[in-house]
Amino acid sequence: MTSSETTQEAVLAALSKVNEPELHRDLVSLHMIRDLEIQSGKVSFSILLTTPACPLRSRIETEARQAVMAVPGVRSVEIQMDSNVPSDGKERGLLQLPVKNVVAVASGKGGVGKSTVAVNIAVALANFGARVGLLDADIYGPNVPIMMGASQLPAQKENNRLTPPEAYGVKLMSIGFLVKPGQPLIWRGPMLHSAIRQFLSDVDWGELDYLIIDLPPGTGDAQLSLAQSIPLSGGVIVTLPQQVSLEDASRGLAMFRELNVPVLGVVENMSYLELPDGHRMDIFGSGGGQKLADAAGVPFIGTIPIDPAVREGGDAGIPIVISRPDSPAAKSLEGIAEQLAALISVAALNGGSGVSINMV
Ligand SMILES: Nc1ncnc2c1ncn2[C@@H]1O[C@H](COP(=O)(O)OP(=O)(O)OP(=O)(O)O)[C@@H](O)[C@H]1O
Ligand SMILES: [Mg+2]
Repeated sequence: MTSSETTQEAVLAALSKVNEPELHRDLVSLHMIRDLEIQSGKVSFSILLTTPACPLRSRIETEARQAVMAVPGVRSVEIQMDSNVPSDGKERGLLQLPVKNVVAVASGKGGVGKSTVAVNIAVALANFGARVGLLDADIYGPNVPIMMGASQLPAQKENNRLTPPEAYGVKLMSIGFLVKPGQPLIWRGPMLHSAIRQFLSDVDWGELDYLIIDLPPGTGDAQLSLAQSIPLSGGVIVTLPQQVSLEDASRGLAMFRELNVPVLGVVENMSYLELPDGHRMDIFGSGGGQKLADAAGVPFIGTIPIDPAVREGGDAGIPIVISRPDSPAAKSLEGIAEQLAALISVAALNGGSGVSINMV
């Protein structure tokens, strides 16, 4: 080897100066650099991200490339971006669930867009390449089958477990698959509890990076059953910008706090209407979601504009991130999915302790 030849040590030293912007540690000590090979000045390696939905993917790639190009003797750099989602470390063994992270979407109030957010973030995460499940825990008004355009019943396997139907790369389970449309559902506490438990234990989810749970409105029995049935990585609160909705949303925050579930962030839905001339009209006021998040000391992870295409997509069973991927609403939802994935990774790598919530 001549002195001008590039060594693994020199490349790793350069990469140890590049930080993962969210984890605030360098790529080498985070063990993100894999398969490093050097052949006559040609350097190739993989960067193992903590989520395929990493919002800073291209920034990390660019900075790593620049750092390695600056090493003497390097003529070219080939980087393969890969991912392996960390688990929150919570024991879900009893339910035989190889599910790395479980996120519940909640609100205090009904009709604010929980299901819309849950469906679209699940589809967006799957689009990024993650393995995703979506559990409709709204047993009174299950909307997920319609919003995902799935009417097919889960198939029963020999081991008596149900195989969840799949739509847009997302595995689905909903009471809507098991009862006839329009049939009223009257559940008593214990039945509700066992229905939710069965969704987790009797459904063959397979290995999942993320299981997203769409909760019913309010802060009642279903939420409690769920939190008792499966350890949650965290919760997301959906709110509208106006005062009344925020008061309801803070009840959602209080519920998660009581159940000891870390809140990953607050999403504000129906934030504004974009007018044809490009102006934004604040139908329900503005800035409320941010205020709520600030008061609670939890991250604010995005605003979603009002767009009739969101409702049309929901009714037609084609989520807006699929039907109109370039619309501002779809872009917001995709950004929220990325933020969420990043927050889940940070919480998982910090030992699953999540974010603490201030009293509001
Ligand atoms: N940003 C948006 N723009 C336009 N319509 C929206 C938007 N978000 C949600 N909607 C529509 O508002 C209605 C309520 O949304 P959704 O069902 O997601 O709310 P929810 O909180 O899950 O309701 P519930 O409490 O009944 O479960 C739906 O028809 C949905 O398509
Ligand atoms: Mg809903």
